[in-house]
Amino acid sequence: MTPRRVSVVGGGIIGLSIAWECRRRGHEVTVHDPDPGNGASHVAAGMLAPVGESYFGERELTELLLESARRWPAYARELAAASGRELGHRTEGTLQVGLTADDLAQLRRLWTHQRELGTPVVSLDSEQLREREPLLHPRARGVLVESDHQVDPRRVVAALRTLVPVRPTAIGSLTELDADADTVVLAAGCASAALAGLPVRPVQGTIVRLRGPVVLRHVIRGYADGRAVYLVPRADGEVLVGATVEERADGHATAAGVRDLLRAATDLVPELGEHALVEVSTGHRPGTEDNGPIVGELETAGARAPRLLVATGHYRHGVLAAPYTAHAVADLVDGRALPLLWAPFTPQRLSAGGAR
Ligand code: GLY
Repeated sequence: MTPRRVSVVGGGIIGLSIAWECRRRGHEVTVHDPDPGNGASHVAAGMLAPVGESYFGERELTELLLESARRWPAYARELAAASGRELGHRTEGTLQVGLTADDLAQLRRLWTHQRELGTPVVSLDSEQLREREPLLHPRARGVLVESDHQVDPRRVVAALRTLVPVRPTAIGSLTELDADADTVVLAAGCASAALAGLPVRPVQGTIVRLRGPVVLRHVIRGYADGRAVYLVPRADGEVLVGATVEERADGHATAAGVRDLLRAATDLVPELGEHALVEVSTGHRPGTEDNGPIVGELETAGARAPRLLVATGHYRHGVLAAPYTAHAVADLVDGRALPLLWAPFTPQRLSAGGAR
């Protein structure tokens, strides 16, 4: 294998993971980002939830995400060992719960779908649910998804940054990198649209961070009187409440969005009402027309232009998909083919081409 000079555009969790994997395989790598780790990765809750986030009509995406979830435990161990940092990787599982009969009707359809995909969903009676999470509202009913875990994306970014060099350069055009690299990897999330004409759109999300004495043991997600919500407890007492899903990109959290998140959170776990509200953050998920990521090679204009690889459009799944994306892109850098599970997610499937 020939060592490559790789420039990665984008220092979020996807770009940094790719950079680390390429370095581990012996390539020379530089990441370009004026504000590394401060985009979607800074806002994300870090649920590793291929089951909780599997939706109707997305079988191939779920298979890809399940494979990335299988890789996370080893990835977290290796990253923690290489960086000497703790990543907040927690494996207690996720409770999927609802409060009202309508909430549970929605969830039952989802659980049937998740079981049809072969994913593990364990029914709990109300006593078992209360044993696992005593602070849940007594009317809550639900299931345990043992395999849906969590990690703290801010810690992951900090760990990766100890392992890969980042230049604080803002890249206005990919041709700026022609002299620096023989391979360019575009991993710039929503900015990939302007840089390569890829059909990626910002889907805004707001997350609220609470802090207090109440300790939740599991990630909890589901519906509270029709409001979708997830609660992600960190070991240090922080609880993330997410997230809005908005087709806009102004970066403003709205009062109504925050109100709905807090109402759903306190309906499910009333004691969260006593917590301090410590942060409201808003970010942009890189959404695509079919909710799948975009990973593969783009044609370049000139014979002497660097090879152009892309890894973007991870929408709701950037943190979960990072280890497997890094592996797939590093295979391309090595001159190998993409792993088969990635075949449905190349740029060639998209309605807009993406040549530069
Ligand atoms: N993956 C959670 C979210 O996008 O809100």
